[in-house]
Amino acid sequence: MLSVDKIHASFPTTRLRRNRRYEWLRRLVAESHLSVNDLIQPIFLCDDPRYTEIPSMPGIYRLGGQRLIDYVGEIDQLKIPAIALFPYYPKEERQENVVSMLHRENFLCRSIENLKKHFPGIGLITDVALDCYTIHGQDGLVADHEILNDETNALIAQYAVTQAQAGADMIAPSEMMDGRVGVIRHALDRAGFEKVGILSYAAKYASHFYGPFRDAVGSKTCLGQADKKTYQMDPANANEALREVALDLQEGADSVMVKPGLPYLDIVRMVKEAFKVPTFVYQVSGEYAMLKAASEKGWLDYEGCMLESLIAFKRAGADGILSYASAHTAEILKRG
Ligand code: PBG
Repeated sequence: MLSVDKIHASFPTTRLRRNRRYEWLRRLVAESHLSVNDLIQPIFLCDDPRYTEIPSMPGIYRLGGQRLIDYVGEIDQLKIPAIALFPYYPKEERQENVVSMLHRENFLCRSIENLKKHFPGIGLITDVALDCYTIHGQDGLVADHEILNDETNALIAQYAVTQAQAGADMIAPSEMMDGRVGVIRHALDRAGFEKVGILSYAAKYASHFYGPFRDAVGSKTCLGQADKKTYQMDPANANEALREVALDLQEGADSVMVKPGLPYLDIVRMVKEAFKVPTFVYQVSGEYAMLKAASEKGWLDYEGCMLESLIAFKRAGADGILSYASAHTAEILKRG
């Protein structure tokens, strides 16, 4: 540790501004770097060839049919390594028993298959929570106002196998049930999908920053005033995040995620330092929406704030970032 006296003694010999003087020098001494290899683009799918912009997420669309293929074609061209898929179901098509999610013919599975065929080199990451399907918008099965843990695990394990059969490369459980990673790993292995990976949403907080995502997948009105605090983590807790990550790794997770992003940089750093495993961070919908809204008002510079947020994730120790701005950022990075 430098004492105040020492800092004074070193001046004027030491001038930290010298290394900030030129752009070339700032590039040389930069401690963290952001590249296209760090980025994952989340995509909302719909069973409709028309596309709709999500009002609370300007520039982000629900995509289906040829539009989806065209968009992923651009992502592929930009060399973004992977995409994370989320299906949109309107309230009328949601069910209590969510059986449709297990149909190999549903539009998520058809989209996975189609994307795999067109873009064999891009990673397909799929979510196994129930909130995209359920009438109540919760991530698990519900009985007597309780979110059922083990019953939900049994269902998402089958769902994971269905997605793997369609061509998913990596299953991303985001519903925070206890023991889900182990149950999914076992089901995948038993079905012959031992090569399909698991990216666990290990430290996922009960966050208000998910609001625009819930608009995008159609779960917001279903959820109403309810919350997810009995399974997603309390924003006050950090040690608990380490326990969550440790358990998921023991159960067979190949990589782990912290979510949301910017308000939880301390957790990203702790997880990376404690486990030294591939650690991802999700810059969630609310983080994206805040920057978009403020920039639309002329109050913030969108690109500048976005790049600053993304490099902050790298500085904290993240290996990869799920961001709605991934495609745009890849374009910026390509421009140089
Ligand atoms: C669903 C899920 C959510 C997000 C990803 N998967 C929302 C939630 O838990 O309510 C949020 C992503 C975002 O806000 O961008 N289990």
